[in-house]
Amino acid sequence: MADATGDGGVGPATLVLGIETSCDETAAACVRGGTDVLSSVVSSQVELHARYGGVVPEIASRAHNELIIPVTARAMVEAGVEGDRVDAVAATTGPGLVGALLVGVSAAKALALAWDVPFVSVNHLEAHLYAAFLEDPELQLPMVVLLVSGGHTLLVLMEGHGRYRLLGQTLDDAAGEAFDKVARFLGLGYPGGPAIDRVAMEGDPEAIAFPRALMDGGLDFSFSGLKTAVVNHVRAHPDVSTADVAASFQAAVVDVLVAKARAAAQEVGAGALALGGGVAANSLLREQFLTACTEDGLHAFLPSRSMCTDNAAMIAAAGWYRLQREGPTPLDCGADPNLRLATF
Ligand code: KG4
Ligand code: ZN
Repeated sequence: MADATGDGGVGPATLVLGIETSCDETAAACVRGGTDVLSSVVSSQVELHARYGGVVPEIASRAHNELIIPVTARAMVEAGVEGDRVDAVAATTGPGLVGALLVGVSAAKALALAWDVPFVSVNHLEAHLYAAFLEDPELQLPMVVLLVSGGHTLLVLMEGHGRYRLLGQTLDDAAGEAFDKVARFLGLGYPGGPAIDRVAMEGDPEAIAFPRALMDGGLDFSFSGLKTAVVNHVRAHPDVSTADVAASFQAAVVDVLVAKARAAAQEVGAGALALGGGVAANSLLREQFLTACTEDGLHAFLPSRSMCTDNAAMIAAAGWYRLQREGPTPLDCGADPNLRLATF
């Protein structure tokens, strides 16, 4: 390994190649020392899936198969790195679509074997937590992370690297799933989050008073009632402005997310709040998150939009920390579509 200044020989010069194929993005990145992004290549399959209105697992696996080698090669060329300079290969082993995961995991193991370097298994959810550090490496622990993606909505207390406490989660739909379903219902296409974000800019967020679920009831979330309320409202008012519906729906989601994240930070006495996951790219959420952190005197970790959505830089970063903490992952480790974040 290139560096022996950190724990287990993993230090600031240790270069990790990260690979991400859990859903519909084929991504590879080279990251040095856990935070220095030398390259980050993301090839989105959005156009392949758009006409079906959502991700088709079989199409995703086949596309990953075609893209994994060129995307990885490009990440290495952009970083100016040859195979013999890579110190470890990290890949998402779950959660995600099993066929899609297997493409990245197999490629990562093959490269690790060929280069005779460690393979590191990375939990996709943990990697989203690490995206915040890529651009602001000054850790402020304990920190509360609001992780909002297409499949998950979690409030996590990060006490240290690998030490997470689950504070709250969704009881039904994930926030991103609600964006996608409402967008599909409104005919705004796929992926729904960015479409609603765009259309909402033209609408009035106070036009319709959609419900804010569980506002006084702890740190869990629920979005399925809101989705039903949107459908019922549009059916009862067929001439309603789509922009007003999008803006009012988005305001309802963001109000709940920000209120619960603030409450969580206060409850556990955290000095910092971070956002992660694809929904963290939402314009209104970013704005209200920053305002809330300023008002509450909290350090805000807000990754750039490209680091919020799926990418491999966050996989390489999480992989570096995991390698330092736990060492290499045995090569018989498989993909686990239902992998959970290890919490206590
Ligand atoms: O983290 P991510 O890229 O993939 C998963 O791990 O799920 O998140 C994808 C989710 C999708 O539901 C997408 O609609 C949502 O993030 N999303 C957004 C925005 N950009 C992506 N939601 C709201 N506003 C956005 N600008
Ligand atoms: Zn994700």
